[in-house]
Amino acid sequence: MIVAIDGPAGSGKSTTAKLAAERLGFRYLDTGAMYRAIAVRALAERLDLDDEAGVTSLAQRERVLFAHEEGSALPTRVTIGAHDVTAAIRTPEADAAVSHVARLARVREAMLAQQRSIAEGRDVVVEGRDIGTVVFPQAEVKVYLTASPHERARRRTAEQAERGHAVEHEEVLESIERRDEIDSTREVAPLQAAEDAVELDSTELSVDEVVDAIEALVHSARSAAGGPR
Ligand code: DC
Repeated sequence: MIVAIDGPAGSGKSTTAKLAAERLGFRYLDTGAMYRAIAVRALAERLDLDDEAGVTSLAQRERVLFAHEEGSALPTRVTIGAHDVTAAIRTPEADAAVSHVARLARVREAMLAQQRSIAEGRDVVVEGRDIGTVVFPQAEVKVYLTASPHERARRRTAEQAERGHAVEHEEVLESIERRDEIDSTREVAPLQAAEDAVELDSTELSVDEVVDAIEALVHSARSAAGGPR
């Protein structure tokens, strides 16, 4: 079963998708990390981020892989080709670069193929922007998670602070709004809720409450399919 969780930056996708995967015993696929890995390698190779041919060749050549450390149910490391980019994909530089490469149609095609090969036929919680609309339109459960821009900026600022990056709330808010604008107005696979997605606003909900709602959707999808609850 595929559980698709889409929504804008800071809506709580990662936290809730990971906890949902743990509780359900599903795998977890973070497709944003894949675009981030491409952006980080493109920066390291000094490619022009808007150079579709150059970035596409990188995306077609290199596989993004997720590795588990001993004892961890969820993947903890991200590699692209021979490079471990686990920390690099979470920097403000990666935040600023990623929307540029995620806009490129042929880069998205290459990522879509990798995403399907990782998740197809498995029980996976997949988070991203276009999972319910483009990557897995047949997903049994689709959630579109939102939160107010201020709340999303507050969460991202706290996350960056935990990683030792000092950033201002206002700056993060601007960066989030800029990214939302690029992500939702791009021509290919823009950020939008699938028609059959269940929209959840997490502004005033705890992580547990959001995950409870996702679990309930999984159970009713299973009973609708006649499977075990
Ligand atoms: O979820 P995130 O912040 O790690 O996503 C990073 C960027 O990648 C974000 O700007 C949008 C893009 N993205 C995308 O276009 N499609 C996806 N399925 C996942 C992420």
